[in-house]
Amino acid sequence: MTNFNLIVLSAVASMALPASASAQTPERGKALFAAECSACHSVVPGQNGIGPSLGSIYGKRAGTVPGFKFSIEMRTSHIVWTDAELNKFLTDPNNALFGTKMPTPGTEMHMGTPSAADRGSLIAYLRSLPRS
Ligand code: HEC
Repeated sequence: MTNFNLIVLSAVASMALPASASAQTPERGKALFAAECSACHSVVPGQNGIGPSLGSIYGKRAGTVPGFKFSIEMRTSHIVWTDAELNKFLTDPNNALFGTKMPTPGTEMHMGTPSAADRGSLIAYLRSLPRS
């Protein structure tokens, strides 16, 4: 192998490293959820709190969890909770859906703004929960 090939190979390997170091896994999402979301949200279906249960929202229409009083904005939003929509909402709820009752991260209850990698983990966690 030439030196040039070695350099290219190690450059590729080092580019791959940060991605695996900050792997977006459901396990990591679960821990983040406990820290940042569980004050308001449960994942047990039917268990609503300050926010609706998020146990089976992945792939569903927004604002349809039974028994929770959503804002009119959420109920009429026509959002379907895909990766892209969740990512947009978790980045800045009020910007994604003006008037939502969900506070913008960092403004209430010590909820930090999740980084892109953390949002990925949170979404992976929500996606991993059993659908009902
Ligand atoms: C301070 C309380 C609070 C915290 C903390 C909070 N939420 Fe919410 N969340 C709400 C409320 C209230 C709603 C309902 C919004 C509405 O009706 O406009 C909501 C709605 C949602 C929805 C839409 C649910 C649906 O059925 O359409 C998602 C998804 C969501 N939150 C995810 C999260 C995640 C993930 C976190 C943690 C990173 C989080 N929330 C942290 C209060 C909170």
